[in-house]
Amino acid sequence: VPPPPPGPPSFTGAKLVDDARHPWMPTRPGDIRGPCPGLNTLASHGYLPRDGVASPEQIIKAVQDGFNMDNELARFTTYMAHLLDGNPVTDLISIGGKTPKTGPDPPRPAIVGGISNHGTFEGDGSMTRADAFFGDNHSFNPALFEQFKDFSNRLGGGFYNLTVAAELRFHRIQQSIGNNPQFSIVGFRHLTLYAEAAFPVTLFVDGRRTGAQAGHLDMRSAESFFKDMRFPRGFFRAAQPSGAGPAPEIFAAHPTVPGRNVAGVNTFTPDTSLGSITDFCTFYTQFVSKTLKGLYPNPTGVLRRNLNINLNFLYQSLGAGAQGCPQVFPYGQN
Ligand code: HEM
Ligand code: MG
Repeated sequence: VPPPPPGPPSFTGAKLVDDARHPWMPTRPGDIRGPCPGLNTLASHGYLPRDGVASPEQIIKAVQDGFNMDNELARFTTYMAHLLDGNPVTDLISIGGKTPKTGPDPPRPAIVGGISNHGTFEGDGSMTRADAFFGDNHSFNPALFEQFKDFSNRLGGGFYNLTVAAELRFHRIQQSIGNNPQFSIVGFRHLTLYAEAAFPVTLFVDGRRTGAQAGHLDMRSAESFFKDMRFPRGFFRAAQPSGAGPAPEIFAAHPTVPGRNVAGVNTFTPDTSLGSITDFCTFYTQFVSKTLKGLYPNPTGVLRRNLNINLNFLYQSLGAGAQGCPQVFPYGQN
């Protein structure tokens, strides 16, 4: 039976996380990494299993301990990833591509593709990773990182901050509308686009930076996380539980609606049917009743039991964020 999610840790202040118990080590043959610089870094320091395959419980503990990600966001993000890309029976998920290490697959159309799988969690318009249409949606992309630095230099005085986040986020969307005929940002991707633009400000900045220095990520530290999957030497995690707080502000600077290119480049067409960052209840309801049901139309036995357990964990993670949005039970309540 999947264990309940860990609660918040007892100490939630800044602390040295690049410590002696968590030495950075290069990947060994077979170790899996993927599109998330946060999880990659945690695996390369041993906060997560270094092979890149983990349980939801391990992921929630690791993002809290290593980065001070706030408990509700840690639970929500982890159960979304697990339901979309993990193996509900073995309770394991890959932080990169598909692997036999997550155990025997449940019946198709389930994918269990790991978080690199395009179109479930991973999506288009990433800041340092290319769109899946161009072939590699998970590796550090040097040209895109040059653009990340260029925006930070021109608009942030050499730092990635919320101003840079808002402009780079908008630019990456426009760029992909113009060159990726299959560009799509619907449903969950419309939420993660803006959350992920916030994380480098809220979670990659050293927790000892306060006052005017707070919320400013220098380019050496950015390269350390995005490219080397490594804490900057002597890194302290955020000074309080943090996460996607500024996402609405980043969205509001250039409020792009969800949608996709429907007939080649520059044919972006709004599609709000799977919800959006401004319509969370539609997002949640459609995710459960359409997206997840599409992957698991008729689960039985342990698979069905564990899907229901993970769906409960997901709903509970919404807390006040559910805002009266009723729970959906696609596989019954017993
Ligand atoms: C991107 C999963 C926690 C920072 C991603 C992506 C996935 C993912 C699937 C790729 C989406 C895309 O850009 O196409 C997760 C899961 C987490 C988690 C399941 C569990 C809680 C974190 C943490 C941080 C972080 C703790 C920071 C400390 C980022 C950033 C990106 C990203 C900055 C965007 C990369 C880019 O645009 O180039 N994450 N993540 N994530 N994640 Fe995570
Ligand atoms: Mg992506």
